[in-house]
Amino acid sequence: MRHLISPLDLSVSELDHILCLAEDIYANPSKYAHVCQGKKLATLFYEPSTRTRLSFEAAMMNLGGNVLGFSSANSSSAAKGESVADTIRVISSYADICAMRHPKEGAPMVASQFSSIPVINAGDGGHNHPTQTLTDLLTIKHLNGKLDNVVIGVCGDLKFGRTVHSLIQAMIRYPGVRFVMISPDELRIPDYLRTEVLDRNNIPYKEVNVLEDVMPELDVLYMTRVQRERFFNEEDYIRLKDSFILTAKKMKYAREDMLVMHPLPRVNEISVEVDSDPRAVYFKQAEFGVYVRMALIMTLLGLDGDNAC
Ligand code: NCD
Repeated sequence: MRHLISPLDLSVSELDHILCLAEDIYANPSKYAHVCQGKKLATLFYEPSTRTRLSFEAAMMNLGGNVLGFSSANSSSAAKGESVADTIRVISSYADICAMRHPKEGAPMVASQFSSIPVINAGDGGHNHPTQTLTDLLTIKHLNGKLDNVVIGVCGDLKFGRTVHSLIQAMIRYPGVRFVMISPDELRIPDYLRTEVLDRNNIPYKEVNVLEDVMPELDVLYMTRVQRERFFNEEDYIRLKDSFILTAKKMKYAREDMLVMHPLPRVNEISVEVDSDPRAVYFKQAEFGVYVRMALIMTLLGLDGDNAC
């Protein structure tokens, strides 16, 4: 039984296979319209979501499958005190695969231990978000042309931002990748990423507080929202929430071909005037999320055999 809990659950060749399949789905969607006929995806979302849940559901529908699920803890038996372990045991007999988002770090991993269907981590607390990373990798590969030798600036809430944590772990596996971390001191990346991931693998990176200074050296600028729901107090959030705001004026420092990415939702960190800049690719990125989730569902269900990748 294959699950996707951490970005490291996929080898580089498996990642490349999923990205290749996603590109083929993007180019020839009708070829895949019936691949999951008769299969069901359960979306178990204990935390708010727009893109992740709906792109999973769209992905399964595009493959000819069906979806069922819940979109908040309050509308599930979690509100009555049911454990994730019990819920997944039951869902295993209702669906063929499931995507779970949970505010507690490690909840999808616990679920995978009690599940008889593949469990996909759709975001666990401030920890990981591996399917956003697949989306991000597809976006970089498709629009930048390659995943190696890329300079990636990650900006905003690097402490609580799970998309950044997963992106770093996945990208270090491609040669020549360098990171520029742009955040307030209080929102720097967690120590485990610095010591166990970046330092241990001799990955070059620097940590700075000023966005404009580093803009000219970036191939990708990955903006993130300050994660209000993970703060212990509202005053800290209010003080830090507008630390970085990307404006058209700041975009003048960037290279002509730099990509501006954002997992979305955006709050204030990218002003809307940037949306019309051809380098702003965050809405395209959200679209890629459907294709890559189609490729992932096919792969985890073992239905990916008959294709070009
Ligand atoms: C992200 C998340 O949920 O971590 N959203 C998403 O899935 N696209 C980013 C965020 O909420 O800031």
